[in-house]
Amino acid sequence: MQFLTDFLQQVKMSNLYRQTVTYNPVSADHVELQDKKYLLLASNNYLGLTHDEVVRQAAIEAVQLYGTGSGGARLTTGTYPLFDELEEELARFKGTEAALVFNTGYMANLGVISALAEPGDVIFSDELNHASIIDGCRLSRAQIVVYRHADMEHLQTLLKNTVCQGKRLIITDGVFSMDGDIAPMGEIAQLAEQYGAIVVVDDAHATGVIGKNGKGTAAYFGVHTKVQVQIGTLSKALGSEGGFVAGSKELIDYIRNKARSFIFSTALAPATIAASLAALRQVKVRPELVATLWENGRYMRELLRAAHLPILAGETPIIPILVGEAETAVRLTEELKQQGIILTAIRPPTVPAGTSRLRLTVTAAHKREELAWAAEQIAAACKVGKVNIGKQVGITCRMF
Ligand SMILES: Cc1ncc(COP(=O)(O)O)c(C=O)c1O
Repeated sequence: MQFLTDFLQQVKMSNLYRQTVTYNPVSADHVELQDKKYLLLASNNYLGLTHDEVVRQAAIEAVQLYGTGSGGARLTTGTYPLFDELEEELARFKGTEAALVFNTGYMANLGVISALAEPGDVIFSDELNHASIIDGCRLSRAQIVVYRHADMEHLQTLLKNTVCQGKRLIITDGVFSMDGDIAPMGEIAQLAEQYGAIVVVDDAHATGVIGKNGKGTAAYFGVHTKVQVQIGTLSKALGSEGGFVAGSKELIDYIRNKARSFIFSTALAPATIAASLAALRQVKVRPELVATLWENGRYMRELLRAAHLPILAGETPIIPILVGEAETAVRLTEELKQQGIILTAIRPPTVPAGTSRLRLTVTAAHKREELAWAAEQIAAACKVGKVNIGKQVGITCRMF
């Protein structure tokens, strides 16, 4: 079919071609390919829990006790006791009355947003929100009003000037996935109160990462009672798979009855739920995990700043190194791979043209000496590649 050939040719010519890359994840911070070991600086496994002994053991036991699959959707035969335990613990962790697990974070955003909003409603959405939020907004068929990234004056102007007969929702990433900055939840919650809007936060990169014990963005800003809908994923800091929403009992009851991505999909396997539950318990009893993650993040940022690399300003473990053109990003990731480092090239349409980047993520599993060595290699590769060194870039980037 010609349109397939045309599309593939076009993305290849623009350095935007994507393909899956196969590695063996041998530890939380290393992967292996053909007997060569690589330092992984591209994972969202922020606390290194994918390879935690307690978490692994919980998954193994669940397979032995309950088998490999759930065999049904949650509302038919797919809910087993581990789900109830996980949902109760998630709610406690988030400081809410209840929680509901979805199969992925993507499905949680899709299902929750499209269940909450409908034609006649208005959704105010940050311009850098994740693709799954954007897709959830589109699916709802509500009016979508995009505000400039984290710009509270712009959000207020739009809230003031947009006529709405139905509900108003403000939706934001908690920690922005490609830029690594934190949404101003305090101000968002205040504006929501002033203009009668419901606040929805997607804490995919904040759960297990920011706030006391990694409780998320609302807790970080002390506004969890004013954020009605907290979405998250189990696939990043919690080292497993799945998504969730936390909020009031009534909200969860409503979502359970309305979210199509919850209702019409087979439930996650017991091993996955057991791993999430064990990981969540590890986060609660080992606060040093989150502390180490932040120490490592600060250390890496200092090293990259000292090397005058163009990193985006921020404080989280997501450290984007802005290199500009897609071709430069691809070349640098290939060069760094030769040196034994895996970094991801983030290119359009994920980020706007001209803002391609190496998205570097630090985890609690990294050792200081590994980070120091990696920073040297990255600085050397960027210098040879003539990246725009010396500029601290603080631009905002639209997500498509
Ligand atoms: C901000 C954000 N929300 C949601 C998701 C989707 O989560 P999941 O990978 O669990 O589907 C991601 C990334 O994958 C993300 O970065």
